[in-house]
Amino acid sequence: MLNWEEQVAPAFLKSGIAPQPLAAEQERPKIEEVALAPLAAIVAEKMTSRVNVADKRIINAKTDVNQLVPFKYKWAWEKYLAGCANHWMPQEINMNRDIALWKDPNGLTEDERRIIKRNLGFFTTADSLAANNIVLGTYRHITAPECRQYLLRQAFEEAIHTHAYQYIVESLGLDQSEIFNAYNEIESIRAKDEFLIPFINVLTDPNFKTGTLENDQKLLRSLIVFACVMEGLFFYVGFTQILAMGRQNKMTGAAEQYQYILRDESMHCNFGIDLINQIKLENPQIWTSEFKDEIKSIFEKAVELEYRYAEDTMPRGVLGMNAPMFKGYLRYICNRRCLQIGLDAMFPNEENPFPWMSEMIDLKKERNFFETRVIEYQTGGALSWE
Ligand SMILES: [Fe+2]
Ligand SMILES: [Fe+2]
Repeated sequence: MLNWEEQVAPAFLKSGIAPQPLAAEQERPKIEEVALAPLAAIVAEKMTSRVNVADKRIINAKTDVNQLVPFKYKWAWEKYLAGCANHWMPQEINMNRDIALWKDPNGLTEDERRIIKRNLGFFTTADSLAANNIVLGTYRHITAPECRQYLLRQAFEEAIHTHAYQYIVESLGLDQSEIFNAYNEIESIRAKDEFLIPFINVLTDPNFKTGTLENDQKLLRSLIVFACVMEGLFFYVGFTQILAMGRQNKMTGAAEQYQYILRDESMHCNFGIDLINQIKLENPQIWTSEFKDEIKSIFEKAVELEYRYAEDTMPRGVLGMNAPMFKGYLRYICNRRCLQIGLDAMFPNEENPFPWMSEMIDLKKERNFFETRVIEYQTGGALSWE
């Protein structure tokens, strides 16, 4: 056996680093004491603990999270494959027309410039919040490896989105400090982030653990806020504004970036909704009437905050749109989110004032909508551009 004092310490002393034997080193049992008896037990334990599909759970599972298969949640795996098939990178999109338009003093109105700056002000930090929420929060509480696999892909997509916004800021030569600090300095953006952060903090708190009714409800509440409010509602005024610009042949490079981001985000939102519904199915005790009422009041507040953002970004009518049109649109989206997670619509009979947005989400409708793309990135067969 290696002797610390006589054999190891002199080597350290020669190198000038003072050796500090670990306290645990002194207390460690001799190898022969532990070697034999527990080994048989460990092997037996391993043999009987092969993953059984029926035992897999989205939260609080006892099964091994390192074993991706056997699959139970195929929808998660399929979304992972679809996400990979839709891979894209911001630098593949030609920004030259946007740069020329932005630099032309008569290229855009002040209201259009305000929309672009506010938009980037929100999104440059929003996707970092989203990434942190996944990596530091959600991931460790989800015990289904198929879902973890999707979350890893989603986290990378959030990095690509932050990259895309940064790439637009850099291409246009915008004041980076102004844009990246907007979430501290612009009230309508700050209000949205302040609303989200407590729900993210629940999941990133190192002391937070699921396994009690109260904590499982906390997790589900945060998942609903993340998928249905953040990705499913708070992105929609901004996406609609920039895509409306692209439809009018303005800022077509930025609009194309947003179109790809929107496609990713709608997949994130759908994954989140599947996750929520599966947790509800496996843990019906969580879905109490008080909990449902609470979710409705969260949605109500979220619609109000996103509407305030619409008013702030569009003080006047612009691009054939105005803030009041978004009141209807946000209520329409909110109804959809409610129905998707099994709640009644909160604003019955709202119609979609922007039906073209549905086509934007579904890229199958048109080949390269803004015709700015220089490289085809579709690497799989999940979505066809024809
Ligand atoms: Fe994103
Ligand atoms: Fe996302």
